[in-house]
Amino acid sequence: MARRSIIAANWKMNGDLTLVNTMVNALSEVDFQNNVNVVICPSSPYLSALVAKTKEQKLGPTFAVGAQNVSEHENGAYTGEISTKMLQELSVEFVIIGHSERRSYFKESSTQIAHKVSVALNAGLTPILCIGESELERATEQTETVLASQLQPVIDEVGIEKFVDVVIAYEPVWAIGTGKTASSEMAQETHQFIRQFIAQADENVADKVPLLYGGSVNASNCEELFAQADIDGGLIGGASLKAEQFKVICLAAKGK
Ligand code: PGA
Repeated sequence: MARRSIIAANWKMNGDLTLVNTMVNALSEVDFQNNVNVVICPSSPYLSALVAKTKEQKLGPTFAVGAQNVSEHENGAYTGEISTKMLQELSVEFVIIGHSERRSYFKESSTQIAHKVSVALNAGLTPILCIGESELERATEQTETVLASQLQPVIDEVGIEKFVDVVIAYEPVWAIGTGKTASSEMAQETHQFIRQFIAQADENVADKVPLLYGGSVNASNCEELFAQADIDGGLIGGASLKAEQFKVICLAAKGK
């Protein structure tokens, strides 16, 4: 079974209405292959404008809008939070969950992240589950243990059958926003570990789950990374804020 390729833009707390317009205009000039999905995840105040702009430019089914976070609660007294229902109402289709910045600055635990993945799936949203090790964990050879400890609570909570609808972004924390990218060999080796880990629960699911690489991906290194057997695309931060560079990255994506 062929796996689709996904290029997701994580704008973090950057961007504005001008970028929404520039990005959609730039992407509307690109003829994407059918098995490539492009997802833009702006800050929540820009979700509606992005959805409206993509409709106006008729970007088509290969393009989708994603949020950067969602609450694990359905509704209620949670000031500042956003629910799955609100995202659905805005025609948002994806949501980034468990980004390392949320794990470290906002103290999100793997259990809370597993709840978020579960509510997102139940609402028909596609979670982009972020996992990754720190520099110290890589240096002390704990990478596989850390990744397993981030994946297992999610598999346990949602069940392996539903896990097939999850997208995973492997983002080594030391490569995020630092300009230090994992070498394509190192990234492939880790992606292969992730796929084998999922295969222990279900080989068929492991074959289908898209695994994205994230961490200082840019127009120069994307092609080599995306050529790796287990890398199905990327989660792009800094380089997704520049329309021309992001377009090059999207065009380097190929389904497997
Ligand atoms: P970066 O960010 O591409 O700027 O390293 C990636 C991410 O944090 O998702």
